[in-house]
Amino acid sequence: MPRTLPDLPLRPATLLVRGGQNRSSFDEMSEAVHLTSGFMYESAAQAEDTFLGTVKHYQYSRFGNPTIEALQGKLAALEGAEACRVTASGMAAVHSAMLAHLKAGDRVVASRALFGSCHWIVSTLLPRYGIETVFVDGTDLDQWRDAFRKPAALVLLETPSNPMLELVDLPAVAEMAHAAGAIVVVDNVFATPLLQKPLTMGADVVVYSATKHFDGQGRVLGGAVLGSAKWVDEVLQPFIRNTGPSISPFNAWVILKGLETLHLRLPAMCANAAKVADFLSSRPEVSRTLYPFLDSHPQQALAKRQMSAGGSLVTFDVEGGKEAAFRVLDALRLIDISNNLGDARSMVTHPATTTHMKVGPEERARLGITDGTVRFSVGLEDVQDLIDDLSQALDGLRGKGGGSVGVAKAAGPAR
Ligand SMILES: Cc1ncc(COP(=O)(O)O)c(C=O)c1O
Repeated sequence: MPRTLPDLPLRPATLLVRGGQNRSSFDEMSEAVHLTSGFMYESAAQAEDTFLGTVKHYQYSRFGNPTIEALQGKLAALEGAEACRVTASGMAAVHSAMLAHLKAGDRVVASRALFGSCHWIVSTLLPRYGIETVFVDGTDLDQWRDAFRKPAALVLLETPSNPMLELVDLPAVAEMAHAAGAIVVVDNVFATPLLQKPLTMGADVVVYSATKHFDGQGRVLGGAVLGSAKWVDEVLQPFIRNTGPSISPFNAWVILKGLETLHLRLPAMCANAAKVADFLSSRPEVSRTLYPFLDSHPQQALAKRQMSAGGSLVTFDVEGGKEAAFRVLDALRLIDISNNLGDARSMVTHPATTTHMKVGPEERARLGITDGTVRFSVGLEDVQDLIDDLSQALDGLRGKGGGSVGVAKAAGPAR
């Protein structure tokens, strides 16, 4: 009989290392990669019983696989959720959670500050299927209150949001949403379950891009949806089973390996991010620095109530708009330009021309994204090297030497 975890309340670090293990009869120490699309039956009767649901047996990896279940078990234990389903990407998780729950005639209320693709689902995709959608400023409880004057089926929000690091008061919004008949879906990508537990603050469903901090090394795409066993089994699972946003067992295994060190990586990234935020706040070329735990953040008190650390993302505005922002990005020698986040390697992106290009200039203005806005995903390098790199790139704006446009990286080819 393979050994299982003791039935004790275990702490997050232990759950990240050992949670969800689904050992086979070979007693492998590390999780096995069950790289198989299907499973065989001993008899036709066993196949029939499996499809009837009277016998538990794996059938097909689109809707069940031992490696994928190991990842689901680890994430559910960490989140404190009854059930989890993992998906091929974060967007597969977001759209599955929404479309599994919604039907024509429903109404969705969403915080405006959403990642570009999530914004597209609410603004463009759902209305095509006869679903009414309403955006609110997620920081303004009066706007949420107004939106809930009519019944709603589902709320989608991000806190902190991508890229402006705005927060939503989860208990207050959840209470209003429930009174209006809606379930609350929280995209918790920026906080991760180590910094914030939305289910303990009234959320019903939590979604993740596992591509980010869970993998943490920029290798694979993945996503996760967590909620009650009833909702996951009865609402989400039939959707996933029949529409197939399923993850590869190999990618699930890579994410399992990444999660074993999340509790070591994330605090180090947050500590680096806090120092980078302090540094950027001191620079005259930077007109605004956003970081949830920074004294100047307008929602610092709420951030400290809901989160145990400020996260690994810092957003800042460079004086001089797009031209200046591009000059800073191009002058970086160590930090990469990339639109991913949560990686061990630090990277910057210019939201107005990448992740939030398609939301359009008016919506960007409403979100506070300017042409000088830069999002910085702070990684695990020595923070002084990151600060030195930012410093020389910002110096370049003032003609202090270094940081001229088109400088090649210290190692590797020029971009
Ligand atoms: C907040 C947020 N939600 C969802 C996603 C989508 O995740 P994926 O790229 O894994 O589909 C992202 C990706 O950047 C994100 O930042």
